[in-house]
Amino acid sequence: MTPNIKPLIAGNWKMNGLKAALAEIDTVAAALSASPNQKCEAALCVPATLLSAAVLHAKGKVSIGAEDCHYAESGAHTGDISAEMIADCGARYIIVGHSERREDHNETDAMVKAKVEAAYRAEQVAIICVGETEAQRRGHEALSVVETQLAGSIPDSASAENTVIAYEPVWAIGSGLTPTAQDVAEMHLHMRNLLTARFGEHGKKMRLLYGGSMKPGNAAELLSVDHVDGGLIGGASLKAQDFLAIIAACEAL
Ligand code: PGA
Repeated sequence: MTPNIKPLIAGNWKMNGLKAALAEIDTVAAALSASPNQKCEAALCVPATLLSAAVLHAKGKVSIGAEDCHYAESGAHTGDISAEMIADCGARYIIVGHSERREDHNETDAMVKAKVEAAYRAEQVAIICVGETEAQRRGHEALSVVETQLAGSIPDSASAENTVIAYEPVWAIGSGLTPTAQDVAEMHLHMRNLLTARFGEHGKKMRLLYGGSMKPGNAAELLSVDHVDGGLIGGASLKAQDFLAIIAACEAL
């Protein structure tokens, strides 16, 4: 954690969730409204098909986000969704540059940056994802890979208000593996130093999330690492009880 930064516990449902899954949001919202003075913010990023309904079910207790956007405001881009459309649904966050998109859709840092600018244009908060592969970690390139991704993916107009960074080692996503607390600490300090050098006070205050196999059982350890200001949670965000347990771990720190 970083003093004076409100932690963010953000779920990423990925390509999961039919209308029935909205009941999980009801459970999260009900639990959070029963304990009003939360020190952590909760968000759920859901498939575009559920965005509008999710906002209603969240009842203002959980922020709702999307998982990607197109860089353009509108136009001839069949099947794509603009940041303005996401904002129109009542969302607040957009995940940009997740490793699954960087890999499945060949998204480059430049493309990610254009999407982040689109998120700002629509007054959304961008959750920008970075992280090394297993081979890069083994080759001692993790710090430099993330440094390059941060340099290329974050626009100059980033601020502590419009941007959240999520460090997600690719090999930790969905694998049940996590880096050691020491490795997370090293990466998050590196990111904090780079962001502070580039953005000054805003870099000091930008929220830095850890993501990759964060679960109720390891959340307290990961969230207590210096400069870890929350989590981006995939699998364990699909069930309200698991997600609430991670929020509780954050609240208890
Ligand atoms: P996971 O996914 O928690 O299932 O590892 C994290 C993510 O990809 O955001």
